Amino acid sequence: MPRIQSTIAREVLDSRGRPTVEVEIRTECGKKGRAIAPSGASTGKHEAMERRDGDRKWYGGLGVGGAVQAVNQILGQVISGMNPADQVAIDTALIAADGTPNKGKLGANAILAVSMATAVVAAETEGLELYEHLHQLYLKKNPKAKIIVPLPMVNMISGGLHAGGNLDFQDFLIYPEGCNSYREALERIVKVYNSLGRVLAKHGETHALVGDEGGYGPNLTANETALERIMEAILLAGLKPEEDVSIALDVAASHFFDADINAYRLREWHEAPRHAEEMVVFLSNLAQKYPIRSIEDGLAEDDWSGWQTLTAALGRNLQLVGDDLFTTQVARIERGIKERSANAVLIKLNQVGTVSETFDALALAASHGYRAVVSARSGETEDTFIADLATASGCGQIKIGSVARSERLAKYNRLLRIEDHLGGPRVAAFQKRVPTE
Ligand code: PGA
Ligand code: ZN
Repeated sequence: MPRIQSTIAREVLDSRGRPTVEVEIRTECGKKGRAIAPSGASTGKHEAMERRDGDRKWYGGLGVGGAVQAVNQILGQVISGMNPADQVAIDTALIAADGTPNKGKLGANAILAVSMATAVVAAETEGLELYEHLHQLYLKKNPKAKIIVPLPMVNMISGGLHAGGNLDFQDFLIYPEGCNSYREALERIVKVYNSLGRVLAKHGETHALVGDEGGYGPNLTANETALERIMEAILLAGLKPEEDVSIALDVAASHFFDADINAYRLREWHEAPRHAEEMVVFLSNLAQKYPIRSIEDGLAEDDWSGWQTLTAALGRNLQLVGDDLFTTQVARIERGIKERSANAVLIKLNQVGTVSETFDALALAASHGYRAVVSARSGETEDTFIADLATASGCGQIKIGSVARSERLAKYNRLLRIEDHLGGPRVAAFQKRVPTE
């Protein structure tokens, strides 16, 4: 395998017009791999650290010049001459060069872009599709993994920190149910998205503006109203709720949790604080009334005892996904498994900072029957790495955002290409429903 010859980084912009790190790696044989780090807004407290300059004269302090320099002056040297196919050796060297537990010295954004670009250039050099190369890598950690085109859970209405409206829950999403292919699933999602636009217009609710992830950002007085509008949109599209389309929530509860009094404050409760038990009842009532299959971050990131209550109450029938709770970190997922908190893990590369550690999180979840959902960030780019990652890991689910804004569509379109590629010689494996284990 040809060795890594050069690594360069530059500052580019993400979907919010904020700087982020792009890395380009070349091998001796002239192959090139490029990757861009994404960036969150509703970030978990335990995520690896994204490094920003803080110089208010450059992008209001959001510049990533320091992270770019860390690649150009340090990380590039560290991996020079190494074999790009040896992802574990490269990631281990990147982690050692930083030396801090949260990658805060050189920056998780710098490290991740190098780690992803390594996988891209290795696939190029081997003449493989990225998902094929990633699958080979992942098999070393989870020998039972299969290549599966993931079922998308797709954002319809945005609230929380992602939209200007007044909803506290961050995402109201849908799953297409029982489609025979990803291609068919995508068409169904677009149908519901378009009819939701008409439903919101009919009710006189602002719908023209979309949130950071392309979901509508209407002004609604209660979280439940968003669910009612989605139900109406499903019917207007000529589809059956539950049978053809089900619902998922990303509550992102850390952002309305008041740690001082250990309670949750929703605007629709006029911010009167309620404890975890009452939140569980609130979520459980919604799940009984609507065809909800999955709830992410139903409680706050450090409310471990609340999560146990939530999981005991709803975990048998619902997928309960830990995002801020786990931050794609093995140690936190291990604790969740031990304490029976959540039953699924959201997987975001930049929460942990390398491809290898992301695989560790996926493999750990899989070996304990926890489901996994590979996810984009609210600050995304044209980079489509996660479409390949989800397929390669066979985790069965992906969350990209809505079917608007090209940083989202780039990934939906990449999955169309992957399905086409798989459909040729082999039978395309598409996850038709939320996996049951
Ligand atoms: P974020 O949102 O990228 O702003 O963290 C995505 C999510 O919470 O799932
Ligand atoms: Zn989330």
